[in-house]
Amino acid sequence: MRHLMSPLDFSIEELDQLLDLAGDIERHPEKYAHACDGKKLATLFYEPSTRTRLSFEAAMINLGGNIFGFSSAASSSAAKGESVSDTIRMISCYADICAMRHPKEGAPMVASTVSSIPVINAGDGGHQHPTQTLTDLLTIRSLKGRLDNLVIGLCGDLKFGRTVHSLVRALARYQNIKFVFISPEELRIPGYIKEDVLEANHFPYKEVERIEDVMPELDILYMTRVQRERFFNEEDYIRLKDFYILNNKKMKLAKEDMIVMHPLPRVNEISVEVDKDPRAAYFRQVQYGVYVRMALILTLLEVKVC
Ligand code: NCD
Repeated sequence: MRHLMSPLDFSIEELDQLLDLAGDIERHPEKYAHACDGKKLATLFYEPSTRTRLSFEAAMINLGGNIFGFSSAASSSAAKGESVSDTIRMISCYADICAMRHPKEGAPMVASTVSSIPVINAGDGGHQHPTQTLTDLLTIRSLKGRLDNLVIGLCGDLKFGRTVHSLVRALARYQNIKFVFISPEELRIPGYIKEDVLEANHFPYKEVERIEDVMPELDILYMTRVQRERFFNEEDYIRLKDFYILNNKKMKLAKEDMIVMHPLPRVNEISVEVDKDPRAAYFRQVQYGVYVRMALILTLLEVKVC
């Protein structure tokens, strides 16, 4: 039995197969409409989510399966003091697979050690968000046609943004990727990612503060929200929250075929005027998230569709 804790749990070949499967699902959804008949997905969300939880639920429904779960710690037995380990042992009796989001780093990993069903990490604190990364990889491969030879700018809260941490790890396995980290001083990418992932593998990267300075060289601009819930004090959040606002004026500096991605939710970091720009890919990214989660559920449940 396999779980998904980090995007690195899949080899590059396995990832290719998963993205190919997601592509086939996009082209022939009807083929998969009953692939998970009678199967159940539990969504255990101890932290707020709209996209990720509903995307998992839509994915399982599209496969003909059933869904149940909770969407906040307050509405689960965690409020009575139940441990994650006990909860997952119990859920293992009800469901065939589960997706767990938790504010504490490593909680889904703890769950996976006692679970008798596949556990998917749907985001653990400021650590990892592997299914968002699968979504991002599918989006990049579909819209840019490749996962290598890319200059990617990651902008915003690179310190607390788990989607950035997972995506950097995943892309650092491909050839000729250049990372440009765009953030204020206080929200820089953590040192452990620079040392363990980038420097250890001799990956070129640079860190800048002004988005305008690097815009013309980017193939992808990955915007992120300042992660209010992970700040220790509100004043810092207020000072930093509007540090970057992508607008049409800044988009004029970008390549004709650059794409703008965002894991969403957006707050102010992308002005709504950019939504009409054909390079804005963040709503298409949401759709890719459903296909890739369908592919992931099929893969972890070892369901084959001919
Ligand atoms: C992201 C997350 O939860 O980390 N959202 C998502 O899953 N699409 C990004 C965010 O909340 O800023």
